[in-house]
Amino acid sequence: MKFTDSPVIELSVHDTRLSFQQDNGSMHVGTSVWPCSLVLVKFAERWDPLTCAAAENPYAALLNFAGKRGVELGAGCGVAAMGLYALGLRDVVVTDIAPVMPALRHNLKRNKPALKKALKTAQLYWGNEEQTNSLKPPFDFVVATDVVYLEETVAPLIGAMERLVADDGVVLLGYQLRSPEAHEMFWEMCRGVFEVEKIPHEHLHPDYAYEEADVYVFRKKRK
Ligand SMILES: C[S@@+](CC[C@H](N)C(=O)[O-])C[C@H]1O[C@@H](n2cnc3c(N)ncnc32)[C@H](O)[C@@H]1O
Repeated sequence: MKFTDSPVIELSVHDTRLSFQQDNGSMHVGTSVWPCSLVLVKFAERWDPLTCAAAENPYAALLNFAGKRGVELGAGCGVAAMGLYALGLRDVVVTDIAPVMPALRHNLKRNKPALKKALKTAQLYWGNEEQTNSLKPPFDFVVATDVVYLEETVAPLIGAMERLVADDGVVLLGYQLRSPEAHEMFWEMCRGVFEVEKIPHEHLHPDYAYEEADVYVFRKKRK
């Protein structure tokens, strides 16, 4: 998989051509496109139940987006939400912190012709329960990519995932290790709340896979 710091990142999802304008020079990490967002979308494209028959598709049930609701946390330029929209996740709200919203809205507008829709946005700071509740959970899909890098945001992030995801819903996480301390804390807390499934590397899209990036599926533990 190629990494690029070019100002525009292109991503094809079946016949839909998405493009994202990034600004790597800004002080906010959300104005860049982080590669594991591409890895997550291309994983979902590879196993799209509409194009990959159920008999040979271990993810046919997981990735059946028809009639489901989704929310993306820490969306940045909105790659995962727009990619999954292109794969059929219609009712999706894309969230981030206030300073990242202009870049997010810009990219949603940029891809409106390709998607024939500008997706809904909302400001969401993970620790803010009022903002979380205003999204009217539960969601069938909570999506997040490359969001684990600061210890102080680990607990609010897991709290937001837990509050937002339906009891029978899933969290789809694109993950790359950024900080050993945040990593350790995140996985310890996660395993207290969720059943964690790691997608085997060989199931990622062969052109969009690299050693450091993983895709995980979380399901709420039964009480
Ligand atoms: C490394 S970027 C990843 C952006 C995008 N998901 C991607 O993969 O390209 C991390 C994102 O998490 C967001 N973020 C960090 N802390 C947050 C918080 N406390 N509440 C909400 N979003 C947060 C940042 O604004 C940023 O958009």
